Amino acid sequence: MRLQDKIAIITGGGRGIGRAVALGFAGQGADVVLAARTPAEIEQVAAEVEALGRRALPVRCDVTEEDHVKSMVGLTLDHFGRIDVLVNNAGAGNMRPVWGIPKKSFEHVLAVNLVGTFLCTKHVWRPMRDAGGGSIINVSSLGGMRGYPLLTAYCASKWGQIGFTVACAEEGKADNIRVNAIAPGKADTAFRAQIREDKSRMLKAEDHVGVCLFLASDESRYITGHVIPIEWFGPQAEDQAA
Ligand SMILES: NC(=O)c1ccc[n+]([C@@H]2O[C@H](COP(=O)([O-])OP(=O)(O)OC[C@H]3O[C@@H](n4cnc5c(N)ncnc54)[C@H](OP(=O)(O)O)[C@@H]3O)[C@@H](O)[C@H]2O)c1
Repeated sequence: MRLQDKIAIITGGGRGIGRAVALGFAGQGADVVLAARTPAEIEQVAAEVEALGRRALPVRCDVTEEDHVKSMVGLTLDHFGRIDVLVNNAGAGNMRPVWGIPKKSFEHVLAVNLVGTFLCTKHVWRPMRDAGGGSIINVSSLGGMRGYPLLTAYCASKWGQIGFTVACAEEGKADNIRVNAIAPGKADTAFRAQIREDKSRMLKAEDHVGVCLFLASDESRYITGHVIPIEWFGPQAEDQAA
């Protein structure tokens, strides 16, 4: 088992990529904390984790609220005694022209994607360090490496998340805490449910599990400060017709 008896917190673990990573980690021997705002979803994933024979702790937590994050980390330590892995996966976005984004909406995207990543990292850092180290995985986006129209708030937050990753990785070297990011392209989850597009030419939530397992495990023990893009590729429509 690649994560035997490791304790992993996964924010946004109630659906989509977070759920897939939680189940993938449990399948490799980890116990998981599922932190998000919708109790029914995190409780459902907790039941799925338990069906795999691992322990799960669903915690209602808004990552933009420091008191929620602090208490989620406290509950994790009370329950499991340690934190080996943090996956900062909770995310939000909006699609609007830059001239039409209400300030509150821009701030909300930064609050979830960037400040939420900061708050969770801040509060797990000392317990992780004191237990000998660990691995933090930030779920950024290709929007954190490129620019896309109508996604200015999202891109700003995801580029910020990558800057935060690289700086934390430097700081983490002294504490044996590795910090890396993944940068998914389009993935077929509820995140994009409102967009009409060809789902067959997109990543599935499960496509993110292997890379997260690698970054969470000791297999990547000398890898820190990196960003791994994950992008669907395949034959173009013209090729398929040929
Ligand atoms: N799908 C894509 O095409 C794509 C591409 C690149 C990157 N990503 C990134 O991948 C990550 C996961 O996205 P997904 O596609 O799996 O979307 P999803 O299915 O909508 O899941 C998002 C998760 O984040 C949680 N969340 C949102 N706001 C939160 C908050 N304030 N506090 C705590 N949890 C919060 C949601 O739970 P609650 O609503 O219950 O809180 C949910 O569990 C995000 O960071 C996203 O930016 C996605």
